[in-house]
Amino acid sequence: MKISGKIRKIPRSVLIAGTGHCVPEKILTNADLEKIVDTTDEWITTRTGIKERHIADENTASSDLAIQAAKQAIEMAGISPLDIDKIILGTITPDMFFPSTACIVQAQIGAKNAMVMDISAACSGFLYGLDLAYSQIALGMNDVILVIGVEILTKITDFTDRNTCVLFGDGAGAVILMPSDNDDEGILATYGKSDGTLGELLYMPAGGSRMPATIETVEKRLHYLKMAGRDVFKYAVKAMSDAALKALEKAGVSGEEVDLLISHQANIRIIESTAKRAKIPMEKVFINIHKYGNTSSASIPIALNEAVRSGRIKKGDLVLLVAFGGGFTWGSALIRWTK
Ligand code: UT7
Repeated sequence: MKISGKIRKIPRSVLIAGTGHCVPEKILTNADLEKIVDTTDEWITTRTGIKERHIADENTASSDLAIQAAKQAIEMAGISPLDIDKIILGTITPDMFFPSTACIVQAQIGAKNAMVMDISAACSGFLYGLDLAYSQIALGMNDVILVIGVEILTKITDFTDRNTCVLFGDGAGAVILMPSDNDDEGILATYGKSDGTLGELLYMPAGGSRMPATIETVEKRLHYLKMAGRDVFKYAVKAMSDAALKALEKAGVSGEEVDLLISHQANIRIIESTAKRAKIPMEKVFINIHKYGNTSSASIPIALNEAVRSGRIKKGDLVLLVAFGGGFTWGSALIRWTK
């Protein structure tokens, strides 16, 4: 189909003005997991790169972590919660089906002027949110958007299944996006794609309208995340490298020019292969998977906040973000850092 309509220059540049993150205090180490399932620290470390992960206690919900991350990002951006036009929150572990977790966050931080929503894109939730927020501000529809990635995956993790229970951790990360007057800074390109034909390789079977909760679904452990790890691994390697290259191509820069790659932290071997295919040396790759495990939609904004606050990202740096997750969903963003 031929699509009509003139291509116009995007009117406004968009920058990240603030970042924040929050993880629960409690740490579950590989040694702790050795006591729960048939696994070893050696297997987990060599196959995934994970040494420990933070896990939420029974009283902590996703919004509790998201609120703390959002407050830090708001403070760094130097804005008032009343300035926020939109909140876009990526999660597959909301506090409840509805109201959205974004609504709960809005109420708690006092973002009274915002339109707010959750989006469901699994581990790509944050980058999908960033892509949407970017377009809204670039087109002049909004000025200030809070994007959050938050997950308490350990509450949908089956701690009798060694294939999955060693992988995940909990946390939240947030950014504030605002317009910029400088065309050469901020978000230079975003890219995203999905493949819904592969959904059952990584999913949670029960609890929705297809299979509502019953005693049987609980007994069959269908309210836990299921993953065909080896298949997901294969797709993740290819999709994440493709996404990295697409963002670079869109912005007209090469991998050699990237100062820092922040990849979704699912497996150190996937991160290494993404970096290699994008021609980015490992010393320019941010890694915190050993501390947090796979925190799904929170993994990129947590890493971004750590990189910014530790001085690893400096003004003028070219930062590449890449994610892959259930759905399947994947995407990337290339940013010229401004702060
Ligand atoms: O965040 C969203 C996207 N998610 C991902 O990107 C995750 C992608 N997948 C992966 O990262 C990897 O596939 C895993 C880390 C999940 C698994 O690593 P793998 O190298 O693909 O292992 P495998 O599933 O092929 O299993 C190899 C062996 C199996 O034993 P046999 O059948 O060869 O005897 C497993 O039973 O390792 C065994 N195994 C374990 N052994 C000790 C699986 N889990 C464990 C464990 N401890 N925790």
